[in-house]
Amino acid sequence: MGKIMMNKAIIITGANGNIGSFFAKRYFKKDDKLILCIHENSDRIANILDNENVRIIKTNLVDLSNFQTQLNEILTETNWHLDRMIHTTTIRSHDFKPLAETDAKLWENIIRVNVMGTFNILKTLIPVFRKNGAGKIVLFGSNVTRIGLPFGSAYSASKAALANITRTVAAEEAQNNIIVNIISPGPVKIDDSHFSESYRKFREEYYRKNLREIPLQRCASFEDLFGLCNFLLSAENSYITGEEFFVTGGKV
Ligand SMILES: NC(=O)c1ccc[n+]([C@@H]2O[C@H](COP(=O)([O-])OP(=O)(O)OC[C@H]3O[C@@H](n4cnc5c(N)ncnc54)[C@H](OP(=O)(O)O)[C@@H]3O)[C@@H](O)[C@H]2O)c1
Repeated sequence: MGKIMMNKAIIITGANGNIGSFFAKRYFKKDDKLILCIHENSDRIANILDNENVRIIKTNLVDLSNFQTQLNEILTETNWHLDRMIHTTTIRSHDFKPLAETDAKLWENIIRVNVMGTFNILKTLIPVFRKNGAGKIVLFGSNVTRIGLPFGSAYSASKAALANITRTVAAEEAQNNIIVNIISPGPVKIDDSHFSESYRKFREEYYRKNLREIPLQRCASFEDLFGLCNFLLSAENSYITGEEFFVTGGKV
């Protein structure tokens, strides 16, 4: 096996999140080299951290230079060939208020983490992929990009921004063999124990209502999302770019 083939690495943001941690463990099993970006917590991926194929970046993605420094140190130390990226980091409109009643600072912070965080990770990774001659990127949006989210205007605005960043960057970077797509799921059953009780209740009600409208009558599973994401990042995908994939069990 060639040196590049053996050293192929994937970077996953929000790697301790519900979806990110599931993906991290699946790629770990596939013997990929992993760069896992975490924020404050690492409990969900604790059992894969201490391994020669895993490196950790612990940072707030809003801090561009800190992220860049840590990534460069890892790439220099390992000589890994980074060729795929999955970006799942997010924060939500956990105040669940109409826009007119939402606190401006909270609104701004959601945009900062979700949109500027995405800018920061793309700004850092695209030059690495260009240098390596190719790269594949999957961002995570949400079905709210097409249906909106009452009581979640900052979150839905940020996800719509990501969908349009996907279309734009895909066109900009096609000439550099960089493929960019976005997966926009409907409700996914997640561990929500870290949310406040009132926000959990709001989400339960939202899910109950949504479930009635989903033709396939269930939420998306982590496996559903992994299958699509893994395909988009694989060698089999050389022509699909700039697309938003709705994983919603048939619900528009
Ligand atoms: N779950 C769903 O129902 C659903 C539906 C549609 C779309 N999605 C999308 O799918 C993606 C993954 O969702 P999820 O449910 O797995 O999310 P999640 O469990 O809430 O995970 C989000 C992760 O982002 C990290 N994070 C938050 N702020 C950060 C910051 N400033 N810098 C770096 N990392 C930060 C969190 O780390 P800490 O915990 O350490 O702060 C957490 O690990 C998201 O983009 C979401 O919008 C999810």
